[in-house]
Amino acid sequence: MPLDEALLKVRGIAKSYGTVVALRSADLTVRPGESHALLGANGAGKSTLVKIITGVLHRDAGSITMAGEPVELRSPADGYAKGIATVFQDPAMVPDLTIEQNLKLTGTDTAAVTRRLVEFGIGELSLAERTRDVPLPFLRMLDLARALTHRPRLLVLDEITAALPADLATTVFDVMARHISGGGSVLFISHRLEEVVRHCSMCTVFRDGGDVASFPPRAGGEQRIVQSMLGETVGQMAEETVGARRGPVERTDRPPRLVVENLRAGPLRDVSFSVRPGEVLGVTGLEGQGQDMLFEVLAGAQRAREGRVVVDGEEISPRHPATAIRHGLALVPSDRSVALLPQRSIRENIALSSRARPSRWGPISMKKENRAVSHAVERLSIDTRAASQARRLSGGNQQKLTIGRWLAEGFTTLLLFDPTRGIDIGTKRQIYTLVRELADNGAAVVLYTSELREIELVCDRAVVLYHGEIVAELPADAGEEAILSAAHGFVGEPEEAR
Ligand SMILES: Nc1ncnc2c1ncn2[C@@H]1O[C@H](COP(=O)(O)OP(=O)(O)O)[C@@H](O)[C@H]1O
Ligand SMILES: [Mg+2]
Repeated sequence: MPLDEALLKVRGIAKSYGTVVALRSADLTVRPGESHALLGANGAGKSTLVKIITGVLHRDAGSITMAGEPVELRSPADGYAKGIATVFQDPAMVPDLTIEQNLKLTGTDTAAVTRRLVEFGIGELSLAERTRDVPLPFLRMLDLARALTHRPRLLVLDEITAALPADLATTVFDVMARHISGGGSVLFISHRLEEVVRHCSMCTVFRDGGDVASFPPRAGGEQRIVQSMLGETVGQMAEETVGARRGPVERTDRPPRLVVENLRAGPLRDVSFSVRPGEVLGVTGLEGQGQDMLFEVLAGAQRAREGRVVVDGEEISPRHPATAIRHGLALVPSDRSVALLPQRSIRENIALSSRARPSRWGPISMKKENRAVSHAVERLSIDTRAASQARRLSGGNQQKLTIGRWLAEGFTTLLLFDPTRGIDIGTKRQIYTLVRELADNGAAVVLYTSELREIELVCDRAVVLYHGEIVAELPADAGEEAILSAAHGFVGEPEEAR
């Protein structure tokens, strides 16, 4: 292979999930011996591209070649044969099996994995452990060990360092350096620019489903990277929504709507916070820090071992979703299919929450219901062309519908769990505006988000969960760096952390 020949050449890749366009047209070229960073804001399409070049997903359009040969992968195993191995963003193991069973499922040489773990300095990790009991950083290192056993020419790492403490991140960089010096290539995805500048010789920036720039990243050139990542559209969006956030008067004098005290449940060790009416409290953290449990307890789907939940001064112990609803706590999960009756109409779905209220059992007033529904549809600008069945709506419109149900009901406290996951950017923006409007009308909102940007766009302040504890409380404009450090358990070092 001539030296200037590309190892991986991706041209014009397009991919949609239903109505969500994840990739419009993406190009990427990785050369032999190159450590290549793939950059872009959350939702830019990086992971989708990774899944396409590794054979997990099928592309709608475009071409892929490895060392000049066209590749058509049907599975990650096909990828191994072509010299591509990947650590995916989400750990790829079945939680209820042991590590060993998981490795065998994918035909991995377990002895080779064990040797790698020793090399990584985590030889104490036993393959007999049940996967769900293994801490996330170890799972990421296991995924890396597994990928390396396939001796790939191209090693793809999708946000591997996001869940790693500094020493294991260093191990990853050592692995990358060795892989490169052996003539291999790395495609490296990370939000931490200092890692990219130090360890990558080239970068490609994605924005809104396409590549917008490609250049060698250099120390001091971070601004250029950020500029191309954000582009104008997002900058404008930030201005508009942040404007909405800063507009309303301070409400510090109002008593809290929701107070959570010393909550212990599942992985939650001792969680306390409060939210006032008119306030959007952001909750964030890496995956698996107890956020699911927190929302389930508040919504009455799980019981706490200890602690108090107080709503408008009254202690409630939500044991059942109906208790939470009666006290005005409404949960909007990120998985719309759980929240909606997919076969039913939009009207029925919006009306559902009022019928769930025991005090309203009895004859349903169709007229009143219709009015509430029309109002909600209008407020949310739900595209009703598919009105007869909720399942025909796009993900974004489904999400607006779930929120609409509670709007029709007149709830007081909204629990939003990653509400914009899998939603296109235009609809995301409508949801941000809607959330701010609801708060301005007196709702107290607790919003968990996996997209750090949403903290600044929508929230008034944020708490960060780490290992089941709130390790930091930050102003909404603290910046992604400060939030990310806290999410990794590094608190109190940079001044901006307070
Ligand atoms: N399984 C899915 N179903 C629907 N939409 C998805 C799915 N996976 C990703 N998306 C959407 O596709 C877009 C690109 O996502 P992704 O490739 O994960 O971006 P990145 O890795 O750059 O954060 C986003 O709008 C995201 O919400
Ligand atoms: Mg991703």
